Amino acid sequence: MTSHTLNELIAEGVRGRYILVRSDLNVPLDGSTVTDDGRIKASLPVIEKLSDAGARVLVTAHLGRPKGAPEAKYSLKPAVARLAELAPFKVRLAEDTVGDSAKELAGSLDDGDVLVLENVRFDARETSKDDAERGAFADELVALTGDNGAFVDDAFGAVHRKHASVYDVATRLPSYQGDLVHTEVEVLRKLTTDTQRPYVVVLGGSKVSDKLAVIDNLLGKADTILVGGGMLFTFLAASGYKVAGSLLEADQIPVVQDYLKRASDAGTAFVVPTDVVVASRFAADAEHEVVAADAIEDSSFGAAGIGLDIGPVSAAAFAEQIKAAKTVFWNGPMGVFEFEAFSAGTRAIAQALTETPAFTVVGGGDSAAAVRTLGFEDSQFGHISTGGGASLEYLEGKDLPGLSVLDR
Ligand code: 3PG
Repeated sequence: MTSHTLNELIAEGVRGRYILVRSDLNVPLDGSTVTDDGRIKASLPVIEKLSDAGARVLVTAHLGRPKGAPEAKYSLKPAVARLAELAPFKVRLAEDTVGDSAKELAGSLDDGDVLVLENVRFDARETSKDDAERGAFADELVALTGDNGAFVDDAFGAVHRKHASVYDVATRLPSYQGDLVHTEVEVLRKLTTDTQRPYVVVLGGSKVSDKLAVIDNLLGKADTILVGGGMLFTFLAASGYKVAGSLLEADQIPVVQDYLKRASDAGTAFVVPTDVVVASRFAADAEHEVVAADAIEDSSFGAAGIGLDIGPVSAAAFAEQIKAAKTVFWNGPMGVFEFEAFSAGTRAIAQALTETPAFTVVGGGDSAAAVRTLGFEDSQFGHISTGGGASLEYLEGKDLPGLSVLDR
């Protein structure tokens, strides 16, 4: 099964046609300032290609997780303002999704113009579990495209969501895979098929429970899994160490113990830090010191100490593994990189990724923001995925509704 491509659609001819494009413009904001425009830049080429070819482009996107009704803080306004700055074409934002503003502005588009509809999650039907409700919303989105519309899914970050603007519209319009989705899938395929070994996976982020399914699927596939971030403390606890006030998901300890047991039989090695940076409290200016991973409670802060980063010995050991790899996938920061004092572990991993000859993939969301915040350039990595949850679910081997609906 294959999906039709954007180039096929362009070859069919799009001048004057309304083309519905699902993009992922879900960017981090500080008030109304976009703090990382990676997803906007990644979405631009497909919109531009269609605009250049004379399409009347209707973009749908979500931002955050509003509760099915308009909320000013989740408006796409800042994201669209940034898109307009970057775009060589005219771009406007409708005040609603399928209401009067969307209809009126869509009706006034000239060939090559771009209209972004307001956050699709302002309509509760977008994310409804009820097929009929989602379908009714999809019908209204599709109606905006008139008689000869088509759909392009370019929102890789949302392909794991069975939502109206991702899934249901694709069942109603001739549908095509956007170039970003295509590239992302090609890259992730390299991590699951004929992967060059050694294959090293670096997992961080706060919760181990978010990573269980991917760990499960990587046992036997990855040669080494390097564990950092808040989740490392559940791994330490699973080995019988005390972690003081550090983040701990006690209910996951048995699951992690099971993984540690199964890993060696499966041929996958877990590498857990041997030293950590422990702080007196969760704050940028907190006092802190490096201690051995099996002696966290012996820090000056006793049982109140909180581990906020991997230590320098572990960071160097992780970097060695990365440099000796042929393929590296990284998802999740090693520590609280937003605070300078606890950013060294994440920085060391990013640096090692830029120095290894391996094919490197940085998996979405926080990790992508981390590398950019720490001053690295996208071009220093093999691929920075725009999808956080989507790239993990792909590696979990799950069926992604937004991808399978495009297959025919
Ligand atoms: C993401 O941020 O990973 C995507 O935009 C999907 O967002 P969601 O997790 O809110 O569906």
